[in-house]
Amino acid sequence: MSLQLKEIQIRSDVVFGDHVTVVQPVNLYGCNIGSGSFIGPFVEIQQEVTIGSRCRIQSHSFICELVTIGDDCFIGHGVMFINDLFENGGPAGADKTKWKKTTIGNRVSIGSNATILPVNICDHVVIGAGAVVTKDIIKPGFYIGNPATFLRGINL
Ligand SMILES: CC(C)(COP(=O)(O)OP(=O)(O)OC[C@H]1O[C@@H](n2cnc3c(N)ncnc32)[C@H](O)[C@@H]1OP(=O)(O)O)[C@@H](O)C(=O)NCCC(=O)NCCS
Repeated sequence: MSLQLKEIQIRSDVVFGDHVTVVQPVNLYGCNIGSGSFIGPFVEIQQEVTIGSRCRIQSHSFICELVTIGDDCFIGHGVMFINDLFENGGPAGADKTKWKKTTIGNRVSIGSNATILPVNICDHVVIGAGAVVTKDIIKPGFYIGNPATFLRGINL
């Protein structure tokens, strides 16, 4: 029997802004975390991810490669981002040409246990708990369900 143990925690190539709080244990590597942001425990943030300023990433969320999050965003507990859609019948594996990007605007709040497929979400959006976002969101407002649909507007 052979066992391979890998420990990442916070790799030296993570770029932090000022006044960032990280509650360990976390797995952070190759990402940029903006000033004033908070990263809760059991969060994994992969390389080529950018988190803006004053964001809150709550515990147990997974932010995969090719995700960009703006400023003043709230990512609830257990939010899952996706970059590989299994378009060819299974995982694309190391073939990053098949991975897709996600861009989240500013002042976006994502409820707990939501799943975000590779999409663009504009500024001033609330995603309900447990929602599955499958398409771009181009209008500010509240979105719920699987697939996520518009619930109501938002007071700006
Ligand atoms: C999406 C959300 C903001 C909507 O709040 P709201 O505007 O007050 O909406 P309401 O409670 O009035 O519900 C409106 C309708 O949407 C439904 N609904 C509300 N939230 C829903 C959700 N997350 N998923 C599916 N349906 C939802 C309600 O059942 C209701 O349906 P009905 O009209 O058929 O009865 C809120 O329910 C939510 O999911 N917030 C996420 C909070 C969170 O995850 N925080 C993390 C830190 S603890």
